[in-house]
Amino acid sequence: MKIIIINGPNLNLLGNREPGTYGKETFETYLQKLKEKYPDVEFSYFQSNIEGELIGRLQAADGNFDGIILNAAAYTHTSVGIGDAVKAIATPVVEVHISNTSAREEFRHRSFIAPNAKGVVLGFGLQSYELALLSFE
Ligand code: DQA
Repeated sequence: MKIIIINGPNLNLLGNREPGTYGKETFETYLQKLKEKYPDVEFSYFQSNIEGELIGRLQAADGNFDGIILNAAAYTHTSVGIGDAVKAIATPVVEVHISNTSAREEFRHRSFIAPNAKGVVLGFGLQSYELALLSFE
């Protein structure tokens, strides 16, 4: 199984960024553990702070992976473009969030991705990514 994880803005700062909300582990450390736990899964990983780059990667991923795990971070709540990209591609996308966005500020309750996602996983810390992965198995 081929899976790509696409992370949006500020997720490159995991480990240092608001550890009370997002934990103390870097994404690289977590991803390494995930790869060891699921050796049969071929993982790709892409992170960008730039909206257009995320759209470009979603388009390029279409047809080349069994699934896309997308944490568009703040763009989740603002980006019609990323929402349209998820709608435009055939490869299933699972939206993930580390924090429980429903329990946070009102502006985080809206997602432009969810209506076109296969499903949404939120609030389980970095484990949200693993739960999303299991949905493709
Ligand atoms: C986030 C939640 C978003 O609201 C926030 O802007 C992020 C991270 C999460 O994973 O909990 O950057 O997507």
